[in-house]
Amino acid sequence: MFQPIMKFNLKLLLLILLPLAYAKASKPDSVYLFAYSTVKNNNHNGLHFAWSQDKTNWIAIGPEHSFVRCDYGRWGSQKKMFSPYLFKGNDGLWHLIWSLNDTDGAVGHVTSPDLVYWGRQTYPILTEKGICQSPEATFNNRSYQVTWKDKNGEAYIASTKDWVNYSTPTKTANALQQKQKLTVSGNVEEGTLVKVPYSTVENLINSYRISVAKGMQGAERLALSPDLFKDPVSMKVTLLPNQQKKISEELLGIFFEDINYSADGGIYAELVQNRGFEYNLSDKEGRDKNWNAFKAWSSTADFSIDSLNPIHKNTSKYASLLIKKKGESLSNEGFDGIALKAGEKYDFSLFARTPESKKGGLLVQLVSPNGEVIGSTSIPKITSNWKKYSSVITASKTEDKAKLVIIPQQTGRVHLDMVSLFPQNTFKNRKNGLRADLAQALADMKPKFVRFPGGCVAHGDGIQNMYRWENTIGPLETRKPLRNLWGYHQTAGLGYFEYFQFCEDLEAEPVPIVAAGVPCQNSAHHGCAIGGQQGGIPMEEMDEYVQSVLNLIEYANGDITTVWGKKRAEAGHPKPFNLKYIGVGNEDLITDIFEERFKLINDAIKKKYPEITVIGTVGPFNEGTDYVEGWKIADEMKLDMVDEHYYQSPGWYLNNQDFYDSYDRNKAKVYLGEYAAHIPGRHNNIETALSEALHMINLERNADVVTMTSYAPLLAKEGYTQWSPDLIYFNNTEVKPTVGYYVQQLFGLNSGKYYVPNHLSSSNNNFPKRLAASAVTNDNEIIIKQVNLLPVAVSSTVDIPYGEYHNKKATLTVLSGDLSDKNAKPVTQSINIEKEVKLSLPAYSFSVIKISK
Ligand code: AHR
Repeated sequence: MFQPIMKFNLKLLLLILLPLAYAKASKPDSVYLFAYSTVKNNNHNGLHFAWSQDKTNWIAIGPEHSFVRCDYGRWGSQKKMFSPYLFKGNDGLWHLIWSLNDTDGAVGHVTSPDLVYWGRQTYPILTEKGICQSPEATFNNRSYQVTWKDKNGEAYIASTKDWVNYSTPTKTANALQQKQKLTVSGNVEEGTLVKVPYSTVENLINSYRISVAKGMQGAERLALSPDLFKDPVSMKVTLLPNQQKKISEELLGIFFEDINYSADGGIYAELVQNRGFEYNLSDKEGRDKNWNAFKAWSSTADFSIDSLNPIHKNTSKYASLLIKKKGESLSNEGFDGIALKAGEKYDFSLFARTPESKKGGLLVQLVSPNGEVIGSTSIPKITSNWKKYSSVITASKTEDKAKLVIIPQQTGRVHLDMVSLFPQNTFKNRKNGLRADLAQALADMKPKFVRFPGGCVAHGDGIQNMYRWENTIGPLETRKPLRNLWGYHQTAGLGYFEYFQFCEDLEAEPVPIVAAGVPCQNSAHHGCAIGGQQGGIPMEEMDEYVQSVLNLIEYANGDITTVWGKKRAEAGHPKPFNLKYIGVGNEDLITDIFEERFKLINDAIKKKYPEITVIGTVGPFNEGTDYVEGWKIADEMKLDMVDEHYYQSPGWYLNNQDFYDSYDRNKAKVYLGEYAAHIPGRHNNIETALSEALHMINLERNADVVTMTSYAPLLAKEGYTQWSPDLIYFNNTEVKPTVGYYVQQLFGLNSGKYYVPNHLSSSNNNFPKRLAASAVTNDNEIIIKQVNLLPVAVSSTVDIPYGEYHNKKATLTVLSGDLSDKNAKPVTQSINIEKEVKLSLPAYSFSVIKISK
């Protein structure tokens, strides 16, 4: 468990010394470079380089190191690089083309000025029919000739001048065959041989060394042996009030995505699963044969699904029962049972109709697993046409696994749809509202904003799966359900109106994220010729899409005389929601396709609503092509703000505390929209929580440029998680905040308007990065946060250079525990403050002192 410090340093030493050895040897002017991919890891590992002076002895540059990886299509099954071909273009750039798979008529293409930095990837479709294997290119006659082979080995050729537009492919006698087979590290590899200045190889070696060093830093864990600390450790924090600066008052918010059953079956309080009979095999891409319109339903009657003359075309399926005998029924099991509380009231509603002349009512019961009826109501005689019926049922007992039973009081055909059971006790007692306990846990974090509806859910798995906000408003029976890309179903019951209303109830700013006209880069094909970004929404459809984004702003902010403002008023909220932010895109692959569409959306918003802050996106990592290219767009377009995402190891947070210190304060602000500390096994424990606390301390210091942050993901239902770790776990009856939750909450409850820089000195010279402090002030309070990532207690002294805070009572809240502790909770006590605060910071702890005037 303890960190192998010696081993770590030895590796680092070797890394530093090896290049020195090279430097001593005489350097060749030019060498041969071999570019190849291997079948290792199923071709997921991208492009490798080896170099040689004599074309015989090849030295692989970090044999396992990938200099560029394919980012096409789905994780796992795609993102492979087959038969890459490297060549220098007449534009002076290195070009790389490769085959993506053995199904698509597209190839991968990317350029680099130096073989180290690789730009935006494109995946041009060269042929609508067939596949492109072993693509190669040559330049002649003022254009590039690209050749490839189809699956039968037939050769094709097309030409391009710009790598964007290609001529119609024609058959050719022979495909180019410029690749070679060479033996590298004992394996025969196929690739491209080029001659380069030796400095090119040196740059590649450097780039490899940097990545190894980063990897080693990232691998550092928080565990240290207490034996390393023979003497007591002390630290002194000196506040520098003269250097105080204004910081964002919206630093901590929440990221809500319908992942891990966060919405349906989660915070959306509906108790009936598959209430509209709209579950579909395609929700799970056919992997679960039982995931269909019958899911969660059972019947003792003849039960089928029909869609003739539905209530609404958007929810066209309904239950059709043929009742032969009185007493036959239809039951819903909820989401693994329906949890009820004794004495609480539940709103029941459904749509029903019967073509029979002898019509009856409906008996509705809540039934416990032992068959006991613990609540019931009756619906009067149903009619021939669809009609909504509502009633209230009071539960007589507390029961975790009840079911809902509907017993038609007639024989013959009965149609039922949109069957709903909703607790009246929702957060703020909203109709169609949120589970009170879960929403309260979020409210208790005091978030200053709420991001929704994702994450990847926002841009979708393919163009058809993009989250379209207008499909999620209005009467529930008219909302369009959607396949959830996390492998289940979105009813849209929790839709844009409910999201806005929740933000208002939390007194938090709404931050909706809309797709930037492109779906998730990890999309499957779903009927499209290519996977991944799928070419984005066709440009001829972009006007309509841009208008839809503008409509969203009107829905939120327009007065009731506007088309969309009127719809908001009709939903029960005549006053505007006062939307200030809108995110366009979610960690997208930054390509020309993205940029073209993003620009259209951004420009249209800025033209019509200049007061709205548009948040751009800079990819899923804190470095690399999407980050660099995303920031380039932000700079060129002078964006207000960008959304950064990264899930990193404790070692990364430890070794990158200055990540934002050098960010240009005159450029776009940063919304750190998704982050978390990940350790092997992806648990959430004191180690991850303290890593996040450390990062938050560094974010607070930089909260003049990083103005918003949100941990991700937020919620996860036990037994239904697609992603871990998450901030809050839950089941049907319990809410289980993690240790990481308490860190977020402590920052939410202890935010400040001003940051007071500090000077931190310590007797601990060996691990200086493991102690950190920050101080913020509000009108009548000063808050000091300290992190101790040492395995021993640290006596800390913070002097308080503000007379008005001397000799006051204060609160001290401490979160600490063993690194593997998953259950620690913060403990608060009252303390007295004199001119300074003297504390013993427990080993592995986060402490917050709040002093009020
Ligand atoms: O937070 C979970 C996922 O992580 C989000 O959906 C996506 O944006 C990111 O990759």
